[in-house]
Amino acid sequence: MQLVTDRGGIWPERRDPGDHAGDGRIRSATVVPGVARTEWESGVAKQARPEAYELDLRTQEAVAKYDEHATAYQEALRRKRPVADLRRFAALATRGDLVLDAGCGPANDLRLLRDAGVHPVGVDLAFGALTEARMLLPRHPLVQAPIQRLPFRPRSFGGLWLSGSFNHLRREEWGPTMAHLMRLLDRGPVYFSCVLGDRDLGVVEDPILGTIHRTDATEADVTAMMEAQGLRDLTVDVRPDPLLEKKRPWVVALGRRV
Ligand SMILES: C[S@@+](CC[C@H](N)C(=O)[O-])C[C@H]1O[C@@H](n2cnc3c(N)ncnc32)[C@H](O)[C@@H]1O
Repeated sequence: MQLVTDRGGIWPERRDPGDHAGDGRIRSATVVPGVARTEWESGVAKQARPEAYELDLRTQEAVAKYDEHATAYQEALRRKRPVADLRRFAALATRGDLVLDAGCGPANDLRLLRDAGVHPVGVDLAFGALTEARMLLPRHPLVQAPIQRLPFRPRSFGGLWLSGSFNHLRREEWGPTMAHLMRLLDRGPVYFSCVLGDRDLGVVEDPILGTIHRTDATEADVTAMMEAQGLRDLTVDVRPDPLLEKKRPWVVALGRRV
């Protein structure tokens, strides 16, 4: 699987080391999708400005918090990743396939996905998080775009990694967003996690981000959403939060499209 870029190239591809500026950021980036008029900044493909989409104000505020606290978020969570889940996910993917990390934040999982043998493409709306990601991953495709409307061709990916990705979407957006993302999947694993609960963009205090609006779900909600997409071999579990442990349990699901 390859992404066609807007400069006529493909990704993954051999890169000329001259493409890289001395600061480790990509100067003439070649990554990303076959969509015209990509703007580039700090090696990130900018397909959207948050304000250009009719996002809920609470979602926009959350994205601004991830922008503002990108470094602190990265540092607090980088050693607390769902490594066992990630290995299970990668084992269900075809080695070397492109996988989409939607709502990737500052690349905490992108590196692990790469090390597990797949080619992750990171998407987020928080430009600060993507800039942080770019410093850690000078060669990987990073796109600023809303996960509700991604600029990729159907069936571009061999896996979907959705770690906390719907946390700041209204509940009514979850089903349509999952259906949109599934159209981008050819076949392969789908990982999804969210906080256990019944909030719909309710106010919460986050230890890193401060006051923020978040949507949570139950095991039954997540099971229904994944089953509606026809995923096979579905497992749905409740796990402690990596930082707050049992005070904030998560629902974690893994299935696959065959
Ligand atoms: C809970 S964090 C998860 C980050 C990362 N996946 C992780 O597991 O640490 C949610 C991420 O989704 C991003 N996000 C929220 N709404 C978004 C949207 N509509 N489109 C793209 N990204 C969004 C935020 O900027 C944030 O980086």
